[in-house]
Amino acid sequence: MKTVKTAAEMRGIVREAKRDGKSIALVPTMGYFHEGHLSLIREARKKCDVLIVSIFVNPTQFDPSEDYERYPRDLNRDEVIAERGKVDFIFAPDVSEMYSSGYSTFVEVEGLSKVMCGKNRPAHFRGVTTVVAKLFNLIEPDTAYFGQKDAQQVVIIKKMVSDLNMGVEIHVCPTVREKDGLAMSSRNAYLNEEERKAATVLYRALLKAKDEIIRGDKLLKFIRKEITEMIESEKLARIDYITIVDPENLQEIAGIDKPVLIAIAVWIGKTRLIDNIIVNL
Ligand code: PAF
Repeated sequence: MKTVKTAAEMRGIVREAKRDGKSIALVPTMGYFHEGHLSLIREARKKCDVLIVSIFVNPTQFDPSEDYERYPRDLNRDEVIAERGKVDFIFAPDVSEMYSSGYSTFVEVEGLSKVMCGKNRPAHFRGVTTVVAKLFNLIEPDTAYFGQKDAQQVVIIKKMVSDLNMGVEIHVCPTVREKDGLAMSSRNAYLNEEERKAATVLYRALLKAKDEIIRGDKLLKFIRKEITEMIESEKLARIDYITIVDPENLQEIAGIDKPVLIAIAVWIGKTRLIDNIIVNL
């Protein structure tokens, strides 16, 4: 396995692989690997000749008040894990390599980027789509892997790929959870012991909602109330949003007569966590 730091070197490697007729899979990440990343790496490894994992804490997807500076980073540890996962190349550029001085080109999926997480994180998805578009342009992967935990990100990236005629097949892998149900996230590292316990309320609330729907409750108002009450019963938790939408396009729905995405964002102390579940009757 090799760690590549520059776009020029990465392009050279990609050119050679393409010349040899090899298929390329990309797993874009911000590093600090956990089981969720590993599940993407494992899935990608099965279906490609060359597996590239990018590790880049992308400054443009953090709003100014957010945790860009303190976002956990550990390239050495990630390299060991990636090597074990049979990754061929890590692409770990510096910020100046991705955003040269005077950088001024952005990719934005309108509409979808302003709902749900986009309401309180106005620049977030523009940063995500910009960096993912740059990685797709540079690496020209045949396939790219993302986690269902970031449900809105997945819908937005698929829309970008379709709108911009990018020839990348997007694979979505299920959310990987801790034993107590908490969705794996690099941000879980911010939680203290008490907060870590409180954080299980996200998945418990989603499961409760799923149960209600399966038992026949189809009133969105009621489902939302159940989730709200459960989260509010946890004193360290503060709701950012609870939404029940169409998983394909994130449009609000009137009732539950086809698959629904229940997505939530909740502050646990100073840490904002997201989770979601798709209920398919
Ligand atoms: O999901 C993430 O870790 C990031 O948003 C991504 C897709 C790597 C872009 O920086």
